[in-house]
Order: sequence, then structure tokens, then C-alpha cells
Amino acid sequence: MILGLCGSGRKEGNTGALVEAVLQGAGSQSELIWLIDLNIGYCTGCMRCAFEGTCWQQDGMTALYRKLIDCDAIVFGSPCYYGNVSGLFKSFMDRSIALGYMGIGKEAEIAMHGRKPLAGKPAAIVSAVAGHGADSVLAIMESYVGYGEMNIVGKLGAVAGMDDVRDKKEIMGQARELGIKLRQALGK
Ligand SMILES: Cc1cc2nc3c(=O)[nH]c(=O)nc-3n(C[C@H](O)[C@H](O)[C@H](O)COP(=O)(O)O)c2cc1C
Repeated sequence: MILGLCGSGRKEGNTGALVEAVLQGAGSQSELIWLIDLNIGYCTGCMRCAFEGTCWQQDGMTALYRKLIDCDAIVFGSPCYYGNVSGLFKSFMDRSIALGYMGIGKEAEIAMHGRKPLAGKPAAIVSAVAGHGADSVLAIMESYVGYGEMNIVGKLGAVAGMDDVRDKKEIMGQARELGIKLRQALGK
């Protein structure tokens, strides 16, 4: 099962269209999750997760931890906001620090980083951007995926102006190609 995560609040927007196209290209069973629906609280940096094995906040992230661990591959999508990820996506990234303290996966090289339950999992990254900032948002997302030691199969920064990316055949084709790479990484 491939999990798609969308960090845009606009369900008719471009990021979701890109994530959907990657999932389509992958052609496997998939689930698209809109982070906006999960009511994800901010990481407070308390590090209670490191001592208690889970985050004290009970919200949409609670079920998402399990889905991230159980899925075969992940498509991460965020719009570009000021050359960065959206606040929604940043909260998701920050809260996923608790994954390292659930006692699952390989040990991190630095002990205080806990464990790496998503290590080796194939991942694709997409970002929708009006004009400038694709490189920096992709670098931020790639750094997150690298921290988790996931296997990044590819990335796509889709510059679409204020247009609907669904009308841009070349970009949509690139997103589907990314999905094919994801499927290949899964050995299918
Ligand atoms: C708060 C905010 C900041 C943005 N910053 C940038 C930016 O730095 N560079 C850019 O090209 N577009 C920027 N945009 C435009 C969005 O990246 C673009 O419209 C994108 O398609 C939004 O994704 P969505 O369609 O999935 O909502 C920004 C939009 C918002 C709302």
C-alpha cells in the first residue's frame, strides 16, 4: 500500500493533483491523506516521546504514525510557501520525530535520534510552486526524507504559475513517471 500525504489545504489545488498523479503512476493500492483533515498539533519540543515512546498529543498524527510504518512507500507533497514547506507539512515533519522512539526499526547512528522505522522505504517528493522556490522546498523535504533514511526514488518541483497543473501535460507526465519509479523500487 502506498501512502500519499498532501500538505496543501486546497483540495482542488496543484499539490494534491501531483500526489494523485504519482499514486496513479505507481498503480498500486494507495491512500491519499490530506494533512488538513488531521488537525495536527504543533510539536512542542518537549521530547516526552523519547521517554514515553509516543507523543502525548492525541490527534490525527496518532493514527498516521501506524500508517507510515505499515505502508510500503510514501509520496510526500507540499506546496511551496516562501521557498519552504507549508505550515501543515512542517507540523507533520516535526511531529514525526516521535516515530524514532516507538522502539521500531534500525538504530540511528546518533543514539539520541532513536530509531529509524521508515529506513529503506521508497519515497517520492513533489511540490507545487507558482514561480520561484522549488529547489529550496525540495531540498527541505529531501533533508526530512534523508533524516528518516528513506530511499528517495525521485522528486518533482512543478512550476505552474497560477494555473491548474492538471492542464500541463508534461508536468503530469513527469508525476506519473515518478509513480512508475516508485513501483519499480517496490520490485513490481
Ligand atoms: C503563503 C504562501 C506562500 C507562497 N510562497 C510562494 C513562493 O515562495 N514561491 C512561489 O513560486 N509560489 C509561492 N506561493 C504560491 C504557491 O506555491 C502555489 O500557488 C501552489 O500551487 C500552491 O499549492 P496548492 O495549489 O496545492 O495549494 C505561495 C502561496 C502561499 C499561500
